Amino acid sequence: MVTAREKWNTKYSRRTSLPGEPDRFLVETKGLLKPGTVLDLACGTGHNSIYLARLGYRVKSVDISDVALDRLDRFAGSNGLGITPLAVDLEDADFDYVPYLGTFENIAIFNYKPTASLWNLLPQLLVEEGVLIYCTFNLAHHAQTGFPRKYCLRPGQHTQPLPPLVLHQYREIKGENQQRDGYVFVKRPVGF
Ligand SMILES: C[S@@+](CC[C@H](N)C(=O)[O-])C[C@H]1O[C@@H](n2cnc3c(N)ncnc32)[C@H](O)[C@@H]1O
Repeated sequence: MVTAREKWNTKYSRRTSLPGEPDRFLVETKGLLKPGTVLDLACGTGHNSIYLARLGYRVKSVDISDVALDRLDRFAGSNGLGITPLAVDLEDADFDYVPYLGTFENIAIFNYKPTASLWNLLPQLLVEEGVLIYCTFNLAHHAQTGFPRKYCLRPGQHTQPLPPLVLHQYREIKGENQQRDGYVFVKRPVGF
């Protein structure tokens, strides 16, 4: 059986292009980020990490694909960017992510749907008033392209209260080839 690491390493080995433009939703919401650090989860070759590092954030970039991370590391090194790549399987239910990764002013997750257990851990990876920006495919994308349903968000899936995360922004992002939902949350002390 092909593991997730092998599958993604094969995909990235076939791609030779340099990291592309940052995600549109990140560009539109960057003003909501808190100064300091960003954890870019499932970063791929790191187009968003690179953008954030150029804006002055210190970025920890996590992915399962060492091929993608090696490419990001080389790019960051030759461009003097403050990016720390880290190979982690985000679907390993037995892994103790919080002490391993640390805490961050911001988390970015693009085009990747965390497991329920990882999702529940995210508040612990954020400092108080920390910001989570999350944008991934929705069921309209599944209907349009056949992309697997299990990786897609239901309409308004994360709009219910989820203390200590407070929803700051939610919108559908309709593109020609991609249908996605974008969320911004802020971590607030419970009771506020
Ligand atoms: C569709 S790509 C998105 C990459 C990047 N965030 C972007 O928006 O371009 C999904 C990413 O999730 C990573 N990934 C898949 N399964 C993973 C896992 N179990 N743990 C960590 N990363 C994983 C893949 O290697 C891939 O880079």
